[in-house]
Amino acid sequence: MSASSGPVAAVNGADLLLWVAVPYICLAVFVVGHVWRYRKDQFGWTSHTSQLLERRWLRWGSPLFHLGALAVIGGHVVGLAVPASWTRAVGIDEHAYHTVAVTLGSVAGIAMVTGLGMLSARRLLTRRIRPTTSGSDKLLFPLLSATVLIGVAATFVHNIAGGGYDYRSTVSVWFRGLFTLQPQPEAIAGAPLLFQLHALTACLLFAVWPFTRLVHVWSAPVGYLRRPYLVYRRQEPAPAYGRRPARRRPDARKVIR
Ligand code: HEM
Ligand code: HEM
Repeated sequence: MSASSGPVAAVNGADLLLWVAVPYICLAVFVVGHVWRYRKDQFGWTSHTSQLLERRWLRWGSPLFHLGALAVIGGHVVGLAVPASWTRAVGIDEHAYHTVAVTLGSVAGIAMVTGLGMLSARRLLTRRIRPTTSGSDKLLFPLLSATVLIGVAATFVHNIAGGGYDYRSTVSVWFRGLFTLQPQPEAIAGAPLLFQLHALTACLLFAVWPFTRLVHVWSAPVGYLRRPYLVYRRQEPAPAYGRRPARRRPDARKVIR
């Protein structure tokens, strides 16, 4: 049974594996993995910034990627979590929704790809950054890049060049079914391959998330986006040259966060 009004395919064993078992396993690893990481490795719960080693590429690559990511996340919340009937009920017809989603989604997607391209190039080509790339980065960067590139490709192939694909009556129905514990594999089983590959790489990304630097997403205060990545603060003036250093106050310390 499907709540979808789009094309519905018959479900076979492979569909059950791909669209029910794999997503639930990935979500379970996501939740349990975070609990494990929080208990085992609070010290390593960070973005592992490398701003001290290189900042020219980072200055452009990081904001482009992150601003694009925040916009894409916003678009996904509306496109996947909010049913089309709700947006229609508040007076947004399908054409208006599609135009805004494709325009903003494309700008955000291009920003994300450009920023991630710069961050990846920086990691691969900068002599000082390459050794800071951990084993988990070697899994994260390709998987993140694949998810983002396939997402952008799906938008361009089906929603710009292809004239429009109504993923809200297929992919979104499947996505919501996972969280309402009423899985609807048939809703995505007939979707175009690019949307299916995008959903699968996203599931795998959620499974590796807790074991990578992506955990920084959950501990970022709002001011984090505007502040320098590393914060130094000296709480007493440096002693003038030739003068005896001032006696250190007991609470004086250098703070690095
Ligand atoms: C709450 C919003 C977020 C904030 C405030 C934030 C902040 C940061 C900061 C300060 C860095 C360190 C910059 C550097 O030295 O590289 C960083 C790195 C990174 N962030 Fe985020 N982030 C956020 C969300 C995200 C999201 C949603 C993703 C991916 C989906 C992401 C992926 C990354 C990656 C891959 C790096 C490493 C870049 C590199 O070193 O090559 N971040 N983030
Ligand atoms: C299971 C989870 C996900 C589902 C079901 C999903 C679904 C979709 C859909 C239906 C589109 C097409 C939107 C359009 O054409 O207007 C899309 C685009 C896109 N997705 Fe996802 N997505 C998921 C997770 C992710 C994740 C984790 C990322 C990146 C970290 C991501 C990045 C993108 C990008 C960059 C685009 C193209 C720009 C845009 O249209 O917003 N997606 N995704």
